[in-house]
Amino acid sequence: MASVGKGDNRPVPRRLVTLFQRFSSIGVILGVLVPIAVITAIHYGTSHEHHWVHDVMRRAYYLPIVVAAIRMGLLGGLASATLVTGVYVPHAFLVHHHFDPARNLEKILEIALYYTVAVVAGYLSDRENQRNAELQQALDEQQSLTKQLVRAGRLSALGEVVAGIAHEIKNPLHALAGTAEIVDPIIPQDANERRMWDIHRREIERLGRVAEQFLSFAKPKPIKTEPIDLVVVAKRFVTLVDAQARQKGIQISIAKTSESTTVFGDLDQLAQICLNIAVNAIKAMDDHVGGQIEIRMGRETLKGKSMAFLRIENNGPAIDEVNLEHLFDPFHSGGDGAGLGLSISSQIAEQHSGFIEAENTDMGVAFTLYLPT
Ligand SMILES: Nc1ncnc2c1ncn2[C@@H]1O[C@H](COP(=O)(O)OP(=O)(O)OP(=O)(O)O)[C@@H](O)[C@H]1O
Ligand SMILES: [Mg+2]
Repeated sequence: MASVGKGDNRPVPRRLVTLFQRFSSIGVILGVLVPIAVITAIHYGTSHEHHWVHDVMRRAYYLPIVVAAIRMGLLGGLASATLVTGVYVPHAFLVHHHFDPARNLEKILEIALYYTVAVVAGYLSDRENQRNAELQQALDEQQSLTKQLVRAGRLSALGEVVAGIAHEIKNPLHALAGTAEIVDPIIPQDANERRMWDIHRREIERLGRVAEQFLSFAKPKPIKTEPIDLVVVAKRFVTLVDAQARQKGIQISIAKTSESTTVFGDLDQLAQICLNIAVNAIKAMDDHVGGQIEIRMGRETLKGKSMAFLRIENNGPAIDEVNLEHLFDPFHSGGDGAGLGLSISSQIAEQHSGFIEAENTDMGVAFTLYLPT
């Protein structure tokens, strides 16, 4: 439960709206509003000769005030104390058959005590909520750190194996590509075997690309750092995917930003991250009519750190929960890919002290690359 009192940084009008919503929740209606209504009804319905009933009812109001303060913090406590005062004052001072000048001071003190109890209980409840929130945040951070460590360990072990395999593939592949180049002009363009030969060459090329990808996963290239505007990164990778996107009827748009989005990094490698994300988006929208990719850049403060971001959002189908959990794991593919694109991308982002976030949005799917400015 988010606190609405101390430690809540939202503007007061929004906190009041939240408070109003909470007051209409079933728990608060049963724990606060119904008891206040019942106590008030007994209070007003009992004749003034039964002093003891009125004494008990006046004190019974503390119960809903404390419940409100515990459930909704300081603001909730104060709101319920005000409500209780509102229903109690006419009874205490205005209804003539209950009018009792001798006990006025006692009644005023009682109202002051309603507020005191509300403030103390509300303050304690807010403090407790704040502590719980801090504890939860620390726990979340620790869990994400543990996940990162496990992943880093798995990646380095995998990296060694993959590097070995890629190396073993690359040497014979080199020989195959070389001989194919020599044989190619010998096979006439109109020969029956030509179609099979073209498949042969295409597959050799594809294997070469996969081996290259395996190697860049296993042995990340060192990064050159220079000041780069993310707008330049966006333009670079859009040039690379534009033709492929247009062929599939997908529109790519880049939103302008007035914020400075300069980061320190390696232009080629940052463009590589975006390229991997964009190629995935294009693949995901294969059967989608009216496909769109929107690119947006800007700045955000995350945990007190100023970060620039580049967001690539497409209007294709959402990623299911299980897939979303493992998107950045090496060799995890929801299709027929090697499952390395996003894993390599997140490695590069980490080398730049940044990270990538993936989420399903109203539009479809969004990947955001965050980098320190
Ligand atoms: N924009 C997207 N919309 C829907 N699914 C996506 C999107 N981007 C990634 N995915 C899912 O994430 C999976 C992992 O992506 P990743 O780029 O790591 O591997 P791949 O594309 O399968 O293979 P590779 O990139 O190595 O050729 C994809 O297979 C796809 O299922
Ligand atoms: Mg991919």
